[in-house]
This record gives sequence, structure tokens and C-alpha cells, in this order.
Amino acid sequence: MRKTYIAGNWKMNKTKSEAVELAKSLVVALKDGKYKYMIAPSFTNLDAVGQIINGSNIILGAQNMSTDESGAHTGEVSVLMLKDLGVKTVILGHSERRHIYGEDDLMINKKVKLALKHGLEVILCIGELIEEREAGKAEIVCEQQTRDGLSGVSEEELKNVTIAYEPVWAIGTGKTATPEDAQAIHEYIRKIISNMYSADAAEKILIQYGGSMNAGNAEALLAQKDIDGGLIGGASLSVEKFEPICKVK
Ligand code: 13P
Repeated sequence: MRKTYIAGNWKMNKTKSEAVELAKSLVVALKDGKYKYMIAPSFTNLDAVGQIINGSNIILGAQNMSTDESGAHTGEVSVLMLKDLGVKTVILGHSERRHIYGEDDLMINKKVKLALKHGLEVILCIGELIEEREAGKAEIVCEQQTRDGLSGVSEEELKNVTIAYEPVWAIGTGKTATPEDAQAIHEYIRKIISNMYSADAAEKILIQYGGSMNAGNAEALLAQKDIDGGLIGGASLSVEKFEPICKVK
């Protein structure tokens, strides 16, 4: 039985004081929650938020990291720095990294392997553009991103990987994939994992849905048999919107 995993990706939102305030409210609101919870503030707020959620049932996540451990990489943040702040998981391959900042599968794979080598959990984001969906290519795009993102990752390391299916056209647009459309891709990805690794690995891996998930649609999405949680953007920015998603079912 897979445990439901709800994660909040705060993206480039919240000043330090706002982030601290939200983290404090979430610690209280979610303390009796039965799912796995993660919040990913911006790099500048990781330290402060980490201190608030330390000892709670919410884990600290980062939204990205460098391909390299250290050195001449102006503006980048290293896996070692994240670990030092108590970060437990890192979101990699987010569509905003792929499409705004030009990250490709090779670069994402390098980050995935580095994070896993250092014992971080990874949320590997995959998802198709609207043109790709309309051309009937959603499955092949998601398959490619999964295979390339996980290239060289062992079955043992895969235990620390969650996949987040985030159709790009559904992110921040208010358009959600229907539960059936999302389920179809999730089931397909699970099949790919079974082919790449084993039926056991496929059965165990968590696959989150992300893209305009909110209190109104979360229950129907999470009721699908291959949707194991959510990666939430906009609706993770207030306790009023995030708490109900964290407590659905
Ligand atoms: P929204 O929930 O704002 O659509 O964002 C989803 C997302 O990109 C989470 O990583």
C-alpha cells in the first residue's frame, strides 16, 4: 500500500517573514495529518523554514540544485549546502526549469544522480506541453523524460525517487487534467518503471500529480489508483488552501 504524499512547491513566492509564518501555521494544521508532507520554499528561506518544521511531520524540500558539488558555478546552490540546512528532498526537472531555463534531460539526470548519491530524496517532474498532448505524444514525452531522468539510477536508489506528472498546460492555468487523463499517464509511467526495473519497484514508486490541484479537485484525482499524491503550487501558498488538500479522502 503506497502512502499518499502531498508536497507544496512555493516557487518564487514569500519573503522570509511570510515563509516563516506559513510554516508555523502548517506545523499546527498538519500535525495530525496521516500523509507524507513536504514544503519547498525558496533557497533563501530554507534555513528559517527548516528551523520551524524541524521535529514536525513536514519535511524540508528544495526546488532545484546544481549539477555539481562545488566550484565555479556563480548563482548555483550545491547539494552539500542543501543537506547542511536539513533539506531532505529536492524537486528536479520542474517544467519551469525545463522550459524557462532550458534544462534538458541530460542535465536533470546529472542532478538526479548527484542528489541520490548524497542521500537526498528526489521528486522528478515530467510532463508534456499542450502541443505534444494535441499531437498524441503525451505518453512518449513522459516516457522519454522518465527514462532519461532515471538513466543510471539503480533500483535501490529508486526507493528515494518520487515521480511528479505535471502536464505543462495545467500548471498555474486553472486547467486540470481530468482524473481519467491523469490516471492514464500515471498507469503508463508505472508500466515504464516496471519495464526499467521490476514489477515490485513499479508497485512501490509514488507518482504525484501536479497542475492546478486544489481543494475542489484533489479528492477525485487522489481517488485514481495510480495517483499517489500531489505536487501543489498556487494552492500551497496559504494554510486555508493547502490544509484541505493535505487532508482529503
Ligand atoms: P500549480 O498548482 O500552481 O498549477 O503548480 C503546479 C506545480 O508546478 C507544482 O510544482
